[in-house]
Amino acid sequence: MSRSVLISGASRGLGLATARELAARGYRVFAGVRASGALPADSGAGEVLLDVTSQSSVDEAVERVRLETGGIDVLVNNAGLHAFGALEAADEARFRELLEVNLLGAWRLTRAVLPDMRARGSGHVLMVSSLSGLVGLPADGQYAASKFALEGMSESLALEVQRFGVRVTLLDAGPYDTDMLRRDENALQLLSSGRQGAAYEPLHRALLGQKRSAEPPRNAAGIIASVVDDPPDRLRIPIGPVAEQVFASLEIDRGERARRVALQAASAGWWIRGEEPE
Ligand SMILES: NC(=O)c1ccc[n+]([C@@H]2O[C@H](COP(=O)([O-])OP(=O)(O)OC[C@H]3O[C@@H](n4cnc5c(N)ncnc54)[C@H](OP(=O)(O)O)[C@@H]3O)[C@@H](O)[C@H]2O)c1
Repeated sequence: MSRSVLISGASRGLGLATARELAARGYRVFAGVRASGALPADSGAGEVLLDVTSQSSVDEAVERVRLETGGIDVLVNNAGLHAFGALEAADEARFRELLEVNLLGAWRLTRAVLPDMRARGSGHVLMVSSLSGLVGLPADGQYAASKFALEGMSESLALEVQRFGVRVTLLDAGPYDTDMLRRDENALQLLSSGRQGAAYEPLHRALLGQKRSAEPPRNAAGIIASVVDDPPDRLRIPIGPVAEQVFASLEIDRGERARRVALQAASAGWWIRGEEPE
């Protein structure tokens, strides 16, 4: 029987491309969208209403997939928002919304699928993160805060659930040509007029004016699908050529560091090794 996959934020961008790719590879794909009918008819996936900021929406989506398939084998936490601009000029409501989707949304959905994965002794949770989860750059602080937090949460999660047969993978994506990048182009006016925005206008203008090369989303989807096909031992996987370069030049930890520290700590090592308390 084909394995079942639930993907959040699959109406467009990386989520839709990943849904298409996995469906083409024979997975039973459930594409989470916020509005009914948002999933293109030719995606090959089934549409599921899913807003990761709503506990009832998360519970209903997970229950529906569970009833149709007997259990979710793979969860791809992909839903995400971006916010451009210096931290001093940031809007608090938008910053909160970003954390609510990028961090707490991933936690909420993961928490909902874990009881079933634990009971079956297997499962794979993928987190769509970013190079902004590894490096904080100017005018990217709100997004970096959300993705650094996602990285830390996933590092802990991986060590918590390993003994139940559940694997966690962080997908650290470089730039891809989706609405997320395009919508930033509208940000300058908003930032210049907002709180302290004028002081940072030259920085914002320069960054928004920059020509950025970005890969098509289907390229990321191919890499993500191969991670689903053949789950790696490593926690962090670079997605795309820019991410590969950053991983190499900054010698990014692939997940061994936290594991080593936790294994050395007598209070946690036994848990990760699947043993009884010392
Ligand atoms: N594009 C890049 O360069 C890049 C690089 C690194 C990482 N990423 C990460 O990749 C993931 C996908 O981004 P993308 O580039 O594909 O962006 P995108 O084209 O803007 O798509 C974002 C998706 O998230 C969904 N979403 C937003 N709020 C949601 C909520 N509350 N509940 C459920 N779904 C929600 C959107 O649904 P609606 O259609 O309903 O709005 C949409 O399907 C994000 O986690 C992002 O941080 C992207």
